[in-house]
Amino acid sequence: MLTAARNEMLTRVGPGTPMGELLRRYWQPIAGASELDGNPIKTVRLMGEDLVLYRDRGGRYGLIDRHCPHRRADMAYGWVEETGIRCSYHGWLVDQTGRCLEQPYEDTTSPKPSKAGCETKAYPVKECAGLLFAYLGPLPAPELPVWEPFTWRNGFREIVLADVPCNWFQCQENSIDPVHFEWMHDNWGARLRGGGANAAPKHLKLKFEAFDHGFIYKRVREGQSEEDRYWTVGRVALWPNGFYLGSHFEWRVPVDDENTLSVAWFFMRVPKGREPYVQERVPTWVSPLQDETGRFITSHVINQDIVAWAGQGRIADRTKEHLRSSDIGITMMRGRFFEELEAMAAGKEPGGIIRSANEAQCIALPNMAREFNIEGVTLAEFDKDPILRQRLKEFRHHYGQPAEVRREFVEAMGISG
Ligand code: FES
Ligand SMILES: [Fe+2]
Repeated sequence: MLTAARNEMLTRVGPGTPMGELLRRYWQPIAGASELDGNPIKTVRLMGEDLVLYRDRGGRYGLIDRHCPHRRADMAYGWVEETGIRCSYHGWLVDQTGRCLEQPYEDTTSPKPSKAGCETKAYPVKECAGLLFAYLGPLPAPELPVWEPFTWRNGFREIVLADVPCNWFQCQENSIDPVHFEWMHDNWGARLRGGGANAAPKHLKLKFEAFDHGFIYKRVREGQSEEDRYWTVGRVALWPNGFYLGSHFEWRVPVDDENTLSVAWFFMRVPKGREPYVQERVPTWVSPLQDETGRFITSHVINQDIVAWAGQGRIADRTKEHLRSSDIGITMMRGRFFEELEAMAAGKEPGGIIRSANEAQCIALPNMAREFNIEGVTLAEFDKDPILRQRLKEFRHHYGQPAEVRREFVEAMGISG
């Protein structure tokens, strides 16, 4: 249980709030680069700030104030040029650093046109593994962490976004919540498919460990032992707002206090013998969350998670909860946030920030699936393993994979539809 004031500290993300300032110290994934292939301009709202993301004709990414520095027109209705983005109201041109490059009327009529003081808000953007990351904190920006999976080759990658109608922190608490797998995904999943015996293997033992880049949770379920990778390796609640499960990442990026952009990046190694596989473009798609009646879609794993997150309310009321021993990881995570918030208030840099380019190049995380993802297995071996077989058959994580993404996947894997 938390006091209302402590709950506010964890959940408020606007500019100037303690948590907002903390999250701004880390690069945040905000879009798929492939989203800008059609329309090179996308509106984004991040931590309460309305912004425009664009790729100019020179290939530079920009993330600037949604409103023009001149008289606040919507830059989303502008257009990109060789350098920068131009407002459609009076033609001001702005670049990715926020500098105003042109003010057509002044440039025509004034003998010495000056743009001093007409800069707009701008944040750095970097592309990595098909994702676009933005940094909204004080400069100089730290290094963008290149997690090891981003360097893996011969894999089919895809990015799935979802607009989740609740605060980011309840989504992130799910990254350190092993027991929900048994109930939400296994027992409830079985009921949704017409079964119903609460027969999923029970969790017998949990362990949570802290490290620089977050927490590792380990578990033993019925039928497993301490020899199992779920105990010897575990999974990672990635600091500060991610989740890493061996073959995919999820991030819970705050849109504002009451909305979250779920960004998930998936990697699927092509079967042995299909190398080299080079993916030209990482597809990005948006998972619909509700059916035509307005009820949440419950058929897919992350859609189920979203039912839990959104079900806790726009901002979960943690004054009314009852934490038990299954929630030790949750308490650890909150504890680290409070510690880091205090450290920041004392002028220190929060943990897990990488300033050395070398160190950022390929960061290994505990990974239960490293060998499978690097070495690969043959198609025949896929067929022998029920989980792998299922992964080839359909995309189980998010509802709504577009047919063209399925086609690209099938082609990459060398399987039939
Ligand atoms: S408002 Fe954008 S150029 Fe005038
Ligand atoms: Fe889940």
